Amino acid sequence: MGKGFYISNTVVIVGIVLAAGALCTITALPAAITSLPTTEPWDQWRLPQTLSPQTYNITMWPRLEPDPNGLYIFTGLSKVVFRCVIDTDLILIHSNKLNMTKPPILTALGSSPAPAIALTVMHPLTQYMAIHLTEKLIAGESYELYTEFIGELSDDLGGFYRSEYYENGVKKVVATTQMQPTDARKAFPCFDEPAMKAVFHITLYHDPATVALSNGVVIDKANVTVDDILVTRTTFAPTEVMSTYLLAFIVSEFGFIEQNIDSLQIRIFARQEAINAGQGQYALNVTGPILKFFEKYYNVPYPLPKSDQIALPDFSAGAMENWGLITYRETALLYDEEISSNGNKERIATIIAHELAHQWFGNLVTLRWWNDLWLNEGFASYVEYLGAHEAEPDWNIKDLIVLYDVHRVFAIDALASSHPLSSKEEEIQRPEQINEVFDTISYSKGASVLRMLSDFLTEAVFTQGLQTYLDYFKFNNTVYTDLWEHLQMAVDKTSTSLPKTVQEIMDRWVLQMGFPVVTINTATGEITQEHFLLDPETKPDRPSEFNYEWFVPISWTKKEAAQPLHWLLKKTDQSDQMKIGSGDWILANINVAGYYRVNYDNANWNSLLNVLKTSKESIPVINRAQLIDDAFNLAKAGIVETTLALRTTLFLDSETEYMPWESALDNLDYFYLMFDRTEVYGPMQTYVGKQVKYLFDHFTTLTHWEGVPPGHTDQYNQVNALRVACSTGLENCTTLVKTWFQKWMDDPTVNPIKANLRSTVYCSAIAAGGEQEWDFAWQEFEKATVAAEKDKLRAAMACATEPWLLNRYLKYTLDPNKIRKQDATSTIISIAGNVVGQSLAWDFVRANWEYIFNQYGGGSFSFSNLINGITKRFSTEFELQQLKQFRDDNAHIGFGSGTLAIQQSIERTTANIKWVKKNQQAVLEWFSNPS
Ligand SMILES: *[C@@H]1O[C@H](CO)[C@@H](O)[C@H](O)[C@H]1NC(C)=O
Ligand SMILES: *[C@@H]1O[C@H](CO)[C@@H](O)[C@H](O)[C@H]1NC(C)=O
Ligand SMILES: *[C@@H]1O[C@H](CO)[C@@H](O)[C@H](O)[C@H]1NC(C)=O
Ligand SMILES: *[C@@H]1O[C@H](CO)[C@@H](O)[C@H](O)[C@H]1NC(C)=O
Ligand SMILES: *[C@@H]1O[C@H](CO)[C@@H](O)[C@H](O)[C@H]1NC(C)=O
Ligand SMILES: *[C@@H]1O[C@H](CO)[C@@H](O)[C@H](O)[C@H]1NC(C)=O
Ligand SMILES: [Zn+2]
Repeated sequence: MGKGFYISNTVVIVGIVLAAGALCTITALPAAITSLPTTEPWDQWRLPQTLSPQTYNITMWPRLEPDPNGLYIFTGLSKVVFRCVIDTDLILIHSNKLNMTKPPILTALGSSPAPAIALTVMHPLTQYMAIHLTEKLIAGESYELYTEFIGELSDDLGGFYRSEYYENGVKKVVATTQMQPTDARKAFPCFDEPAMKAVFHITLYHDPATVALSNGVVIDKANVTVDDILVTRTTFAPTEVMSTYLLAFIVSEFGFIEQNIDSLQIRIFARQEAINAGQGQYALNVTGPILKFFEKYYNVPYPLPKSDQIALPDFSAGAMENWGLITYRETALLYDEEISSNGNKERIATIIAHELAHQWFGNLVTLRWWNDLWLNEGFASYVEYLGAHEAEPDWNIKDLIVLYDVHRVFAIDALASSHPLSSKEEEIQRPEQINEVFDTISYSKGASVLRMLSDFLTEAVFTQGLQTYLDYFKFNNTVYTDLWEHLQMAVDKTSTSLPKTVQEIMDRWVLQMGFPVVTINTATGEITQEHFLLDPETKPDRPSEFNYEWFVPISWTKKEAAQPLHWLLKKTDQSDQMKIGSGDWILANINVAGYYRVNYDNANWNSLLNVLKTSKESIPVINRAQLIDDAFNLAKAGIVETTLALRTTLFLDSETEYMPWESALDNLDYFYLMFDRTEVYGPMQTYVGKQVKYLFDHFTTLTHWEGVPPGHTDQYNQVNALRVACSTGLENCTTLVKTWFQKWMDDPTVNPIKANLRSTVYCSAIAAGGEQEWDFAWQEFEKATVAAEKDKLRAAMACATEPWLLNRYLKYTLDPNKIRKQDATSTIISIAGNVVGQSLAWDFVRANWEYIFNQYGGGSFSFSNLINGITKRFSTEFELQQLKQFRDDNAHIGFGSGTLAIQQSIERTTANIKWVKKNQQAVLEWFSNPS
């Protein structure tokens, strides 16, 4: 039996009888072929509609000890019952990297007998097992296919894989799964498409000392002897009708804590050591309230009898919403009161809310195909804020979507190489293409436009439509327009007046890429919209049937007085209301509820700058952040002067709110990236240092750097104050940080640094220090038992300023014994973020691309993040040439989920070159004499 294909006993006999030629066709296709050779069904990426799975009975046995060849394996049996929908003599079922250990057996469940199997061929490229029959299956009849197989339990973070960790010096192995999007087929043969829903009966064999988990509750546990080995057989209750990508099975020695809410069992699993240390408690505390919130919000009871959540030492995404058994990276679930920061805590609350939101939206009702992924992910990324708000009502977390999603995705969606939210079904076919749709556009733009929709419909109408959608399609599949229909029904039932239908409005935001900049001329009352492109000289890659015009809901105030919503339905419009005299000012897109930027005539800009300086409370906090972000980006696109953007930061010398500060620092970050290797650097540092002094003094008075500010976002801004004051060289700051770190080095048993401040303090101290500080951090990194602490040290070690330390660290990233695979790319990105590390990281990635690509291909996000991360500072012709060279040199290896990112990086570098050339002088002058 060769890799990737199997000739059944029947084949050999039939083959002799039929023709020798038949055997010649049984060859595994080389995986490098990218264009499909024929129109045969097994050369298509999508399953034919001939068969429909009903139930699977799956038994899996992962081995947590290596076999004599050092290979970790699992064995499995599967019985799938399917109904024939259209007569066919071919059973095409997904199977990837599995070896069949017995010939498949086909049984008929109806009256007509099962045809014999003529030939079984594996197609590694399209990831199918093709079973050719001597006669046709009959439409309407049901059949059962039995397979026995063996697969590798590898450490590649996909399918059924293994994760390792040490406890008291002993290596432990966990067998776990990550199926989404297309790796269920790597665990067992299955019809691996989201609309091929079925009921799954799962049984796991495992060592009696381990715990087995799956989507359902345990219904039977027995000790049995197999091949002279005593094993426990755990049987799970059949699942609801569900998609393959939401399955999970896990065998581990983990511990857990639990809580029952009504009759619902909620459990948090993790390494025994982490559970003993209480690290699961926060997650357990917030899960109940968030679940209860979503039950109310969706008006559908939680669909399952239990909710398990588990933290895994190796995990490629942040978390995965497997139905009833959600998997997380440790940092996304585990919280330690002493060690974790409030940022860690916020991440846990929001990510739990995100995954719980999917238990209904995504799991109970599932999009038919991956081209609509944006609705699934965009929706969860929006309501995660609502769920987290329920758990932590004092945080003002709902505001932060503007920083984390809206502003962040604006930066990408303003590129000509962006893409629409929705893709055509036929454009998303191959696994790499499916992986590529898990990008910032799907998550953050999806969240932003749904928030806008909920805002203009009102939350009551939005939830009403959502509830009937979920009820109508439960256990079924949809396309995104099904949601629009239900929202429209909700609109029609109320007195809400919309200028267009939900579908007409949303088509503009979903089917064309990008977003508009709305310009309000307060002298004439004219309102216009324009497709906003960061580099106005580029042309969008694709035409739009809507000509890059949107239906824009404009919320606005005249001074502080709220005005009725103004719908901009064409390119240019006129509103006498928006024509104002001197002394008045207009502010639009209140709380950035809309997915667009706003520009004004100079007079209104000047009025707004004046209000910021003299009475900033007249402008909502979110809009203070917006004015900065809009101005900086309009300047980048050449629409307003760069000095206007810089002037929006003048008021910060009396601002203590987090959102405006964060917005300004994000934008100034770009100036640092472009100029920290030029003469602009000095004056820029002086200016930023002067602005932050007020904030630093504010927190000095408030906390004396001993206490913790009470407000959630104040805690973030305290970190900003410390980080920026230290990085601009404020002596009182650097002294504090050095003292704290030295104290810790003197007595490593007690870390005197406040949890929230650790990232910043570690980074500053390591940047100012040398080998001794770095090695101390490495030691503490290896010792740390809280993942959040490990992450902080890992990021801080990238702040070193000696090239040899950074080069050594880069080498560590490719050694999984030093840096876990899941963390390799983010570590390289951190090093590239350091001005000293930038070129080292770039050289390193270029030199090792093939290896990185092959070893780290598992994650959905990592390649695009890696490429964007290492190139974000690029701003010279030389760097642009290198980037193009890199693209051409590695064309034969490919860039996987980073393919689009390469294009985006080239576009961004080109824009940066132009921008620096045009602005350097003016920026230098402004920073030298800011006003
Ligand atoms: C599957 O078969 C191939 C080819 O014989 C072999 O290299 C591979 O190790 C097998 N996998 C397992 C898990 O046994
Ligand atoms: C699958 O397992 C369930 C529960 O053990 C059993 O009732 C059912 O008959 C099995 N189905 C098949 C096809 O073996
Ligand atoms: C299986 O055996 C283990 C010890 O080998 C024992 O602790 C466990 O209770 C047994 N489980 C069942 C269901 O009998
Ligand atoms: C969890 O809730 C309990 C009871 O309200 C509280 O005492 C404890 O501090 C909470 N733990 C965490 C980590 O939030
Ligand atoms: C799923 O929805 C389709 C319509 O979109 C309907 O025809 C079908 O009957 C539904 N299936 C189930 C199981 O409800
Ligand atoms: C530094 O701190 C000391 C006392 O803590 C204070 O008197 C001094 O004004 C501070 N210096 C600056 C530049 O803030
Ligand atoms: Zn999600």
